[in-house]
Amino acid sequence: MTRVFSGVKPTGHLTLGNYLGAVRQWVAGSGDPARQRPEAALFCVVDLHALTVEHDPARVRRLSRQAATLLLAAGLDPERCTLFVQSHVDEHTRLAYLLECTASDGELRRMIQYREKAAKAQAAGDGVRLSLLTYPVLMAADILAYATDEVPVGEDQRQHVELTRDLAVRFNQRYGQTFTVPRATHPEVAARVMDLQEPTSKMGKSHDVGAGIVYLLDEPEVVRKKVMRAVTDSGSGVAHDREGKPGVTNLLDILAACTGADPRALAGEYGSYGALKKDTAEAVIELLRPVRERHAELAADPAAVEKVLRAGAERARSVARPVVDRAYEAIGLLAP
Ligand code: TYM
Repeated sequence: MTRVFSGVKPTGHLTLGNYLGAVRQWVAGSGDPARQRPEAALFCVVDLHALTVEHDPARVRRLSRQAATLLLAAGLDPERCTLFVQSHVDEHTRLAYLLECTASDGELRRMIQYREKAAKAQAAGDGVRLSLLTYPVLMAADILAYATDEVPVGEDQRQHVELTRDLAVRFNQRYGQTFTVPRATHPEVAARVMDLQEPTSKMGKSHDVGAGIVYLLDEPEVVRKKVMRAVTDSGSGVAHDREGKPGVTNLLDILAACTGADPRALAGEYGSYGALKKDTAEAVIELLRPVRERHAELAADPAAVEKVLRAGAERARSVARPVVDRAYEAIGLLAP
């Protein structure tokens, strides 16, 4: 059995980037006959990670519920996978401490996301929370606690999964074989969806301005407006060229991801930016329509979503407990 684990943090409304880069692969994988058992694929709303930067408690609660509802709306089937909330399963923080005793201060300070987010927090006059530095260790614990083989994520999480692998190997070498060494998997197209207004930056849900970000719950008219107003590049030729034409390339990638076409082949089909934008907008609207509609149905019954999360947490706990207990023993702690 190949075990899959991944997560999304409730720091903002889920975006097209989250969907194309990650969530869609989670859903696609659950059709794999090798993953018929619900404990073979675990997906987590990683709420503890939302506390590493300035946060509003009520908003985190609201976004956690919304993220879980959206994951179900996107097609995760609770009969075929395990959907749960990170803070409901103590094993994550139990294991994180052991991994803090495995990681070094230097390797955490080198993490790109830490450096970017710490600089942003400082610029805003906010303190940098210690948890922002240790965040990748908690993420490693999320993954390793489940003896995960594959971690389907967008391109931006590559470095964090690399660190997870390093920590697993180091722990195993020091204390004996304990953890499975996981590997990241990325979609072929749209592993890094860029902001429509700033196509050299990632489309990120935690950003403050939403004009370049398509949210999964945006109304079709809003999606159309955002895509039609996307920043394109100088010159008028449509070419797939990430360096020279980042705006157009981003639109080609999005359209390709929505339609299953090859982004380079698509470039040859368009003579103007306007036509490309129009088709991209319509493709995104059609891709998101069923998700939005299903979300509206599910959001009307929050008790049903809570039931899924409770059952998910119980199953997740039963997978993680023996792995984390083994790590406690291996590192030299007395059994209670
Ligand atoms: P998060 O919440 O930022 O993003 C969730 C998933 O969406 C992907 N993603 C994107 N993919 C393509 N283009 C984009 N613009 C884009 N924006 C986001 C992310 O790569 C991710 O796969 N640290 C993680 C959450 C996490 C996690 C884990 C993931 C915590 N523990 C364990 C996997 C396994 C994060 O901040 O994701």
